[in-house]
Amino acid sequence: MNTHNDNNNGKACLLVTGGAGFIGSCFVLLARAQNTYRIINLDLLSYAGNLENLASLADDPDHIFIRGDIGNGELVAHLLREYAPAGVVNFAAESHVDRSIYDPDAFVRTNVLGTSSLLRSCLAYWQSLDGPRRENFRFLHVSTDEVFGSLGPDDAPFSETTPYAPNSPYSASKAGSDMLVRAFHETYGLPTLLTNCSNNYGPRQFPEKLIPLLIIKALAGEPLPIYGKGLNVRDWLHVEDHCRAITMVLENGRPGQTYAVGGRSEKANIEVVRELCSLLDAKAPRAKGAYADLISYVADRPGHDLRYAIDPAKIERELGWRARHNFASGLESTVDWYLNNQEWVSRVQSGAYRQWLDTHYRER
Ligand code: NAD
Ligand code: TYD
Repeated sequence: MNTHNDNNNGKACLLVTGGAGFIGSCFVLLARAQNTYRIINLDLLSYAGNLENLASLADDPDHIFIRGDIGNGELVAHLLREYAPAGVVNFAAESHVDRSIYDPDAFVRTNVLGTSSLLRSCLAYWQSLDGPRRENFRFLHVSTDEVFGSLGPDDAPFSETTPYAPNSPYSASKAGSDMLVRAFHETYGLPTLLTNCSNNYGPRQFPEKLIPLLIIKALAGEPLPIYGKGLNVRDWLHVEDHCRAITMVLENGRPGQTYAVGGRSEKANIEVVRELCSLLDAKAPRAKGAYADLISYVADRPGHDLRYAIDPAKIERELGWRARHNFASGLESTVDWYLNNQEWVSRVQSGAYRQWLDTHYRER
């Protein structure tokens, strides 16, 4: 995937969707720091999209932000014609399991119907290309290990050949989008790539997910809600390692293939929370008592998957990818980020980033 284009300041251009969210913004920031791609960033700015994540790119002519829906075929067709990207990376999604339990339809709308519409727009664009531009075009869909369902304590980790068995509306909708990606490759020959990654952590994660939520609650002296007994296991990967994996798959992955990405870093939730508490005890001690005193066991999540684990042997062997962050130091730097960016946190919590957004968009 190395096509250059004159309309794009002589750089290969990527259409990135969902690039104002947690993982998408990390990908965009890394790509622009390395000056490898011109980025057209299409994001609807749902509650989880935050332009403040991209504030450092405000004056970067090679980052073009467009507020819009991946399901808006006319808009996507226009962007593809206008910028002629060499590839598309689809991060846009509804991404939180708990929200999917309350409103599954929102997940079907963006994750299934939105992805289907995006695929159709990309197919039409790809079919209009010829020569090396057509040969080199890639559509990379960013997915999750949750599509594989739940493992027992002694089961082998998920790999690319594990059958899909999603248990939540979130994972079911992601499974649906993955199947559509597969079908567009098999039926129309669209050069697709698929990644199924484990739980990410790192800076700028929306404080509804376990790690940022508990950091923020701990600092506020609030109870730390642990679902069930805290014994559910997740495999944790630093978001930058995930973004490097996506770049490697985009550049050297084989069209039609899937790559499982994980940190070989399985932890029970209670272990993660205890590690968080001791980091906070050292960095921001409470006036009285330890942060672990705030741990509070609450009713379990319905359909709560017991364990996720990934065997990343294929991406390691074929593409030479390796996780660079280990969990202990990655978690520490994540805690540091939240401690040093409490204004980001309070703007997200108060909704002030949304008021700013409304003002920002009223003015254009
Ligand atoms: P996120 O919720 O932080 O960000 C999602 C982004 O998509 C937001 O900026 C939002 O505004 C945007 N968006 C939502 N609907 C849209 C639409 N219809 N059109 C355009 N933009 C839209 O999510 P994240 O954690 O950054 O996850 C990104 C992707 O990675 C998702 O597809 C998710 O399934 C996948 N994934 C996440 C994890 C994880 O641990 N967070 C792990 C593996 C895979
Ligand atoms: P989460 O960050 O929502 O990611 P996912 O459900 O996609 O794995 O949750 C991670 C784990 O932490 C999961 O097992 C549910 C658990 N959890 C809690 O125990 N308490 C909480 O408040 C949250 C948000 C999650």
